[in-house]
Amino acid sequence: MKPEDLGWISLACLLLASTCRAGDPVPKPWPLQFHALLFENYTSTGKLSVVDLWYDSVNGRNYNIIQKQLGQKLWDLEWNNGTSFYFDLEHKTCKRVTFPVGILRPNFLSDAHYVGVQTLDTFTCNVWAKVDFITYYEDVATQRPVGWQFYTGRFNHVITFEEGAVLSDPYWQAPSYCFTEEAELQEESIESGLILTSKGQEPLKRWVKGLSS
Ligand SMILES: *[C@@H]1O[C@H](CO)[C@@H](O)[C@H](O)[C@H]1NC(C)=O
Ligand SMILES: *[C@@H]1O[C@H](CO)[C@@H](O)[C@H](O)[C@H]1NC(C)=O
Repeated sequence: MKPEDLGWISLACLLLASTCRAGDPVPKPWPLQFHALLFENYTSTGKLSVVDLWYDSVNGRNYNIIQKQLGQKLWDLEWNNGTSFYFDLEHKTCKRVTFPVGILRPNFLSDAHYVGVQTLDTFTCNVWAKVDFITYYEDVATQRPVGWQFYTGRFNHVITFEEGAVLSDPYWQAPSYCFTEEAELQEESIESGLILTSKGQEPLKRWVKGLSS
């Protein structure tokens, strides 16, 4: 075979592959605003949480209010300008982190690859995956998300999904102790896994890894 033939073969494969992909189901983009109640299982440890997710891309903000089973309640507030706050109202502690990227885009799954049909929690789902980030399950019948698993092992099961629901403004004000110098966390400590190991914080890692792609 001549070297130039190889070029034609790869071109043909490419065309063929894109034809095949064209038939795959496409994930429904996230609504610009929604509230979801999530049951979360950190599968590597078996630790459980209930999470209120308030996604609000209209106002460039996202909340994960995480109630750990018989444990801490953690408020994870993310802004599109790159600032994130992680605070505990009971213990009056806060960490402030800055990232170069903002919150998830409504179409963050558009470049995910289609895995196929699988059953999750009794729902028949289309499944997509983004390498090193997420596996996502969408109900075939309603196109609502049924669940997703981050590559670190956090498995979120969607219990309620209210399109258009918005959390009122006062809740989005981080407490004053978030704005002290001590609250500021350097990105090096995130990369070294400080927060991940001490608090098991998925969102941090998500920002670092998933959104840059
Ligand atoms: C959480 O995930 C682990 C690992 O997959 C599993 O063994 C366990 O049963 C799950 N817990 C619940 C309550 O679903
Ligand atoms: C981003 O926006 C939030 C909310 O308005 C604000 O508290 C924070 O200081 C801003 N961060 C930057 C880097 O401007």
